[in-house]
Amino acid sequence: MSLFSHNPTEFKTLLAERSNYRDVDYKTWLIDLKKPPGMLEIYAQHLFGAVMGQTFPALFVFEWLLNFYPVEQIVEIGTGCGGLTVYLQTQANIRGLDFVTYDARCRLDDKNNRIMANKPVKLKEYINYRTGNVFEKDTRDEIRETLKKKVTLLYCDNGNKPKEMKTFVPYCLKGSIVGTHDWNGQFGIEGMIKELKMELLFEDICKEGMTKMRFWRKET
Ligand SMILES: C[S@@+](CC[C@H](N)C(=O)[O-])C[C@H]1O[C@@H](n2cnc3c(N)ncnc32)[C@H](O)[C@@H]1O
Repeated sequence: MSLFSHNPTEFKTLLAERSNYRDVDYKTWLIDLKKPPGMLEIYAQHLFGAVMGQTFPALFVFEWLLNFYPVEQIVEIGTGCGGLTVYLQTQANIRGLDFVTYDARCRLDDKNNRIMANKPVKLKEYINYRTGNVFEKDTRDEIRETLKKKVTLLYCDNGNKPKEMKTFVPYCLKGSIVGTHDWNGQFGIEGMIKELKMELLFEDICKEGMTKMRFWRKET
């Protein structure tokens, strides 16, 4: 079996074999933010020293996606503390893609990003970030303009994903990939997905990777 396989079944099996999470109740791995995290939880939630709100297998899913669904830019909505952002920014740098991330409030200097080392991580110097409410006119229009220019991987991970998708997906070019986190059908947006003319991609791979991410391709 090859890492370069574009066969979803093969990739799914590979992911399952490589994932340490397979037989673990994933919920037990999540940080309960009210408690100080244990060391295992810290490692499970940080990447490059920054807090990441995704499972590690999710990173394999992004790798696979970027290899086989070529895009020209990545737009992330919901930077959080930047753990996933630093990964996506690096993917963009290496692959020669544009990258930008948005959050209503910048948390790149969050104290939890300093747990792993004495020195704070230097995310602000590395990441192309913008601070602004994505539903306010100036920020909203800036994102829409960006989406109209290039085939995009748009990753929606803010507080109101259905609204975010409704606001931005119509401005994505054909062939763009739209991803969202925390998908378990609770969005009630299945109808909207049809309306937005998006085709669901490799759900089985996302499930096998123990991630609640889902991806769609914009068909028109
Ligand atoms: C779940 S966190 C993002 C986690 C991050 N993607 C990761 O994987 O580590 C959601 C973020 O969305 C931001 N957010 C919520 N509503 C927003 C809005 N209307 N505009 C911009 N950002 C928003 C919050 O400030 C928060 O940092």
